Amino acid sequence: MLLLLMVAAAAAATLRLCPLARAQPLCRTHTVRTGKVFHTRQRIQGDRLYFSSMTTRLIKHPCKKNVALYLGRQVFLTTDNFESSLLPFSIPTSMQVGTPKVTSAHFAGPVLLLVLNQKVYIYDYEVNSWNASVGIKHPVSHLSGDNCCYSGHPSCTDISNSVFAYLHGDQVSEANIYFSDSCGYTFQKFAYERQAELAGSLGGVFYFHSLSQVGLLLIDQGKAMFCYSDHPVNHSFGLPFDYNGTLDILITPGQKGILIFWFEKSLLVSWNAGQLVDPVEVKEGRQIVYSSLSEAKVTIHTVAANENELAVLTQENHLYYGNLGVLSRSLVKFADQNIWSQEAALMFTNVGMLEILTPLPDSVFLAFDFQKCPVNIQAILMDPKLQVDVCKVELLQGEFENKMYTIDMNSALELTALMIPRPGMSPVPLVMVSNPHSLGLQAVIYEDGYTYDGNTKHRLNISLMQQHHWGRADPNFTSSIRRPTMSTITVDIANKEISCVDLKPLTALVSVGCDLEKKIVIQNEITACYNGILDPVALQDNYSYVIERDAYDPNFRGQKATRDLVVHYHYEQLGCPHLVYYDTPWKPVVELWRGGKFKEVVEAEYVLLEVNGLFTYTYSLTAGTAFCTAQPQNWTTILEHAGDKGLFAWDRENYVSCHTDDNKAPLRWPDVPYQILGGPTDNKVVFDQRNGMYIFFLSIVDPHYSYCRLETSFSVYVYGAFPMSVIPQESTVFLLTGAILLTVWLAYFLPKLLSTEKGLRLKGFWVRLYGRCRQSCACWQGRR
Ligand SMILES: *[C@@H]1O[C@H](CO)[C@@H](O)[C@H](O)[C@H]1NC(C)=O
Ligand SMILES: *[C@@H]1O[C@H](CO)[C@@H](O)[C@H](O)[C@H]1NC(C)=O
Ligand SMILES: *[C@@H]1O[C@H](CO)[C@@H](O)[C@H](O)[C@H]1NC(C)=O
Ligand SMILES: *[C@@H]1O[C@H](CO)[C@@H](O)[C@H](O)[C@H]1NC(C)=O
Ligand SMILES: *[C@@H]1O[C@H](CO)[C@@H](O)[C@H](O)[C@H]1NC(C)=O
Ligand SMILES: *[C@@H]1O[C@H](CO)[C@@H](O)[C@H](O)[C@H]1NC(C)=O
Ligand SMILES: *[C@@H]1O[C@H](CO)[C@@H](O)[C@H](O)[C@H]1NC(C)=O
Repeated sequence: MLLLLMVAAAAAATLRLCPLARAQPLCRTHTVRTGKVFHTRQRIQGDRLYFSSMTTRLIKHPCKKNVALYLGRQVFLTTDNFESSLLPFSIPTSMQVGTPKVTSAHFAGPVLLLVLNQKVYIYDYEVNSWNASVGIKHPVSHLSGDNCCYSGHPSCTDISNSVFAYLHGDQVSEANIYFSDSCGYTFQKFAYERQAELAGSLGGVFYFHSLSQVGLLLIDQGKAMFCYSDHPVNHSFGLPFDYNGTLDILITPGQKGILIFWFEKSLLVSWNAGQLVDPVEVKEGRQIVYSSLSEAKVTIHTVAANENELAVLTQENHLYYGNLGVLSRSLVKFADQNIWSQEAALMFTNVGMLEILTPLPDSVFLAFDFQKCPVNIQAILMDPKLQVDVCKVELLQGEFENKMYTIDMNSALELTALMIPRPGMSPVPLVMVSNPHSLGLQAVIYEDGYTYDGNTKHRLNISLMQQHHWGRADPNFTSSIRRPTMSTITVDIANKEISCVDLKPLTALVSVGCDLEKKIVIQNEITACYNGILDPVALQDNYSYVIERDAYDPNFRGQKATRDLVVHYHYEQLGCPHLVYYDTPWKPVVELWRGGKFKEVVEAEYVLLEVNGLFTYTYSLTAGTAFCTAQPQNWTTILEHAGDKGLFAWDRENYVSCHTDDNKAPLRWPDVPYQILGGPTDNKVVFDQRNGMYIFFLSIVDPHYSYCRLETSFSVYVYGAFPMSVIPQESTVFLLTGAILLTVWLAYFLPKLLSTEKGLRLKGFWVRLYGRCRQSCACWQGRR
């Protein structure tokens, strides 16, 4: 009953276009003509922009409904959806652009980016300011990027901030590709692995967030294919497809990995970020009449797409429409009407609402008006002449729609969706994950219809998990899952009728990465404060202690320092130290907390370092007794290559276990201390015979525990060690002998003496001595 699609690639059906008989008018035009008076005294300042192509483009901001850019012989930027007359868009002459020809434009978060005369310019439309972007040293022609509208989550913002700039048609092997993670303000050269080995010319560079890969489009002898940045996409190449003319590439909003490729004579589509690219078929009624638009002998003028719809306007006044749902991509050709002109552009204003927009010059005013012809798709599809099948589904709903989720390692995500079929129909729901390499669908439980309010409802329980836990064995795969990735999950209906205009697929964005609510806490049940060893009031009052010079090394190399170190204790951060008896091997109990709630005790591997360089501790296991098969990493080797990272140098990114086959370092020094705690071994910290405070930095290094950098600092107070003897051995013997003699003498004389006055004074001396010793010992302990 339930068709479960794990890989979007499997859904490789092609798009179908259905030409139709003449019917009711498509749309009625009206003209927007407002605000002219305000523009009378305004003059166009600076250089008027124009688009390099003979056709038009209408680029809508995916996240901001009313912001759009029209590109044609004039350029218009609107922030009210062309609801007022506009002056042609121009750039101040002070920017010294030269020829103000636009070859590419892209909305990146809050700004508009334009390629003018082979350079990138930034226009901040909220504050009306221009900037030239920094860092691009070679001519570029195109920009590419995506916008994430789901939330303010850092991974979502990263998507909107990422932009590529490149020169279309450059030889790929030596192409200069630039990347910006600052909305285009600054670019750096982008190093693509193995770029020099690639043949062909560059058709584009795209960050496919749905796949967490960078794709390069390679064009060679009329064929093109994508090359992906990372394993595990097979061979890292997509399948080749026909490349005629210069294809314009549209990434549809929503991070689903849907791409539309087009030029005057051809229209292609991909559902999986270019791994498979197929021509759009033309369908008449239920029959396919052309296997591609090029066979239909039309000249495409412009194309518009939103999350799940596609529309095409041709010079022959044909208007095609279709949905971009999974496995149901029939497009309809609407009745011909005189809608085409050289300046006409297409845009979706809402779901099922298409608009043909034409700027109209005015003989009196400089500002242009806009002729609009709104097409209500749903109303047109009602025409019985169109022979459109009714939609099998009445409702498809899910709480998760357009939300963003985070899945960290070892966690799952449960989603539910509701589907109400038309009475008597049995539609097939589909669940798709765009990046099955990182995010796995664990199960879809399909609850058979239950009747409620006279309707039969179906519930889908969808369970998602990070892929590693499926036990895949490919070592390249396991190394690649260390990296946080993104995926989208889409719930749709198989073979959806074209009449399902309002039935949007349900999509959520899943960041397979660090769950920012996670943190680690060191269990501190036995503190030095509550055992009377340290005074919490004193600790809070600018407390400091001294580390003697032969106990620490500021450079962490285990070499004695040249002077004592005074350490100020940060009580707010560290609280009361944990109390540890020096003679008992110890390891901290690390707890995982999420959003203020305790989750579990961490069993993963972690490392410790005393932050002031104290080296008066070691570990209970050695590389040999920990059964390492390779030489384990240690702080010495890590800090050698740490640069300025210092303590933060050892983390899940660079940790290599000494127990895996991946680690090729031969075990040459089996007797060195094994410095990794937790995980499979029962390694512990062993303190030297020295009382005092230790402040440890702890970092979870197990790469498969969480995508987060889980780190913390905490303090430990070691007690119970006798102070080291400072008196030479011979004097000790001498003193000891003296003490024995004294005891004997006391034992003999004391009973007699105590009855005398002299004896009473002596007794008082011993009592005072005992009292002072107790006091001074406590002080001594407290000083540390
Ligand atoms: C934009 O340019 C102006 C000067 O032209 C400069 O002061 C400002 O810092 C720039 N803004 C950014 C974000 O680079
Ligand atoms: C990769 O190749 C294997 C076998 O060659 C095939 O089973 C699998 O479906 C391919 N995966 C993708 C994403 O194409
Ligand atoms: C590209 O051109 C070739 C030959 O000119 C033709 O056979 C092929 O169908 C065209 N492909 C597309 C997608 O238009
Ligand atoms: C689906 O999930 C809901 C709530 O999460 C639960 O009450 C229901 O029993 C689940 N259905 C099945 C068939 O597991
Ligand atoms: C793993 O990746 C390396 C290069 O990245 C490649 O040479 C090797 O064949 C890959 N191994 C497998 C099993 O795919
Ligand atoms: C804390 O002690 C240090 C020296 O031990 C001193 O310089 C500093 O002023 C003290 N701070 C406060 C707030 O008492
Ligand atoms: C760290 O490991 C290296 C070998 O990798 C070894 O030579 C060195 O002695 C170790 N250092 C410590 C402090 O254990």
